[in-house]
Amino acid sequence: MRKKVLVTGGAGFIGSHTIEGLLSTGHYSVRVLDNFSTGHRENIRHLMGNIELVEGDIRDMETVEEAVADMDSIIHLAALPSVPRSVKAPLTSNDVNASGTLKVLSAAHRAGVKRLILASSSSIYGANMAQPKTEDMLPAPVSPYAASKLAAEQYVGVFARTYKMNTLSIRYFNVFGPRQDPNSQYSGVVAKFMTSALAGEPCTIFGDGTQSRDFTYVGNVVSANIAALEATGLHGQPVNVACGERHTVIELLDTITAALGSPVQVIRAPGRTADVLHSLADCTLAAEVLGYRPTVAFAEGVRQTLEWYKTTYTG
Ligand code: NAD
Ligand code: UD1
Repeated sequence: MRKKVLVTGGAGFIGSHTIEGLLSTGHYSVRVLDNFSTGHRENIRHLMGNIELVEGDIRDMETVEEAVADMDSIIHLAALPSVPRSVKAPLTSNDVNASGTLKVLSAAHRAGVKRLILASSSSIYGANMAQPKTEDMLPAPVSPYAASKLAAEQYVGVFARTYKMNTLSIRYFNVFGPRQDPNSQYSGVVAKFMTSALAGEPCTIFGDGTQSRDFTYVGNVVSANIAALEATGLHGQPVNVACGERHTVIELLDTITAALGSPVQVIRAPGRTADVLHSLADCTLAAEVLGYRPTVAFAEGVRQTLEWYKTTYTG
């Protein structure tokens, strides 16, 4: 008997990879809840015969109730990502990322769903400068996005402690890979740099480019999401999931340039408001709780992702 998993945000970048991973095990049937606001039908077109789709908004309780009915577990990815988007529209970020998560948790509890895994974010560490980031560090959000994710984490903790759900917050660190949307002003840096470089257009570096991230290939995150569905001892705690390497924005561009074998034009722009300076994860806890180990390192992930953008965007 296959277990029934609801993937909210399943039409997004991480969501579509997570669904592929779940289906490939043969152990899960998948329902998706998505409103296609930042995700795309194209991301799940190849999966449509094998999944059930509920099209709607996590802010709408009736829709959420329909989506959670009969599920064994939920991987809750639906959110408005992007730090700059949240700086521009903090109320909407909060409605979707924090209140939306509370609605999903609440409906899940009432429907008897036993387990919920939240996509949280490294951004919650914010202004706390200690490296590497460990889960016992004090969060210090500097963006509305980070604050909304921290609020969501707190609800995830409460639903474990008060309502005895098996819940976990996975703090993803700068995820990249095929299907990450490069076309929005809020797109992640890897998708933007790769598609600009391939199109012979300039790449913009915000600030001096020495800010660094623990860029994490999407396959690593998928393995953590799937492990979380079977792990024991989930009690609403947060765990970091990353690659365990730190690279500056300049190093990222250099790696892409080297892989392309041709120079890339660079534009310099002022640093972004609410940009975190450095971010590197300690993944010891994820190893303990989920048996997590990153299997695709940064350079290999860059290579695979660049190949995908090459094929998809330049034929
Ligand atoms: P994405 O934008 O590709 O996916 C988000 C999905 O949620 C989209 O399909 C979107 O249509 C859907 N969605 C948004 N608002 C919704 C709503 N109100 N109702 C229903 N569906 C809604 O982004 P992603 O990079 O795949 O991110 C997935 C999750 O991981 C998000 O929660 C994000 O905050 C988190 N995260 C991402 C990263 C990263 O580097 N990409 C890092 C840390 C955390
Ligand atoms: C990203 C995620 C966010 C996640 C967070 C923490 C995206 C869109 N956002 O935020 O959901 O919670 O990681 O894991 O994936 N930069 C440039 N030039 C550009 C674009 C960005 O120099 O064209 C710089 C930014 O100023 C920043 C770094 O690159 O310093 C990374 O930016 P971005 O990819 O947007 O990710 P985060 O803001 O770190």
